[in-house]
Amino acid sequence: MPRDSAVTWLVVAVVVTVLAMIAFVVFVPTPTPEAAPASANVATPSNVAWTEETIAEVNGGDTVRGMVLARRCEKCHGEEGFSDSGEIPNLASMDKLAFWKQLEDYRAGKRKSALMQPQAAVLTRRDETDLTAYYALLPAIPDPQDTRVKAVAAIDPQAAATAARLVALGDGTRGIPPCQGCHGPVGNVRGAPSLATQNADYILAQLEAFADGSRANDINLPMRTIAAQLNQEDRKALAQYYGSGLGALPGGASPVWKK
Ligand code: HEC
Ligand code: HEC
Repeated sequence: MPRDSAVTWLVVAVVVTVLAMIAFVVFVPTPTPEAAPASANVATPSNVAWTEETIAEVNGGDTVRGMVLARRCEKCHGEEGFSDSGEIPNLASMDKLAFWKQLEDYRAGKRKSALMQPQAAVLTRRDETDLTAYYALLPAIPDPQDTRVKAVAAIDPQAAATAARLVALGDGTRGIPPCQGCHGPVGNVRGAPSLATQNADYILAQLEAFADGSRANDINLPMRTIAAQLNQEDRKALAQYYGSGLGALPGGASPVWKK
């Protein structure tokens, strides 16, 4: 009967539609949630990118406001930006981009430190920029009266030679470029601080942290790659070399400051 067949077709159509809907729900994958923001991605070394805007922002700090804010940094980093502990970095005259990036990385948890992360967590971007301006202005040569500057023991000549070679020439056989091509004084890459007045213990700790990946905030991995290629002896020699002031001039000609 035509009427019955119409009903049958209607029932079949409904059943097919329901089955199709069930199949859709079961088999069609749910769309993946929107990509997580870069800050949530642990594989991203840093949220900082060196765009024109960022560079302009970093260079636009207020030195006087920075000086006031720096009061809370002095107990660890020293009144003149020279720390009295070899494990705490000197900040005097630090390269602006490098300084600012490190604060941003601590704030975002991209660089880990039980001491510095809480310090950076309470800073605004403007605070970071102002602190950057202030520390960049502090002279790299400490007050000669300032006895808090750590004396660095005379460096062993063998270690000095090893370090001088790596700093000036690198080591092609291990793919290590010369340090002075990125950290100065020969060349500078964005975000690479001068090491000329940095503390030996701090430098050694950073080279070890890059080598084992516990510090992983270097954009494009230059330092993780280089530090992993250096052996323990090289890392110690380099830390001593810079810590004793030999990195101030190309080839370690003459230390600018030393106690
Ligand atoms: C409680 C001690 C302490 C205080 C206070 C402190 N710092 Fe630090 N800071 C450290 C230590 C320790 C490190 C090295 C941590 C690491 O190994 O990553 C460090 C590292 C840094 C670095 C990275 C330097 C580099 O060469 O990469 C910057 C920049 C810095 N501090 C700025 C500041 C500023 C600005 C303040 C004040 C707002 C401040 N710190 C307050 C202990 C302190
Ligand atoms: C290709 C460029 C490049 C070369 C070559 C290079 N570095 Fe670096 N280095 C960087 C950059 C960029 C950073 C900053 C990483 C970041 O953003 O945290 C850095 C950071 C560092 C730091 C940490 C500084 C601080 O204040 O925390 C140390 C120590 C260091 N380098 C030592 C060396 C030594 C020693 C050599 C030579 C064996 C070397 N580097 C060669 C680019 C380079």
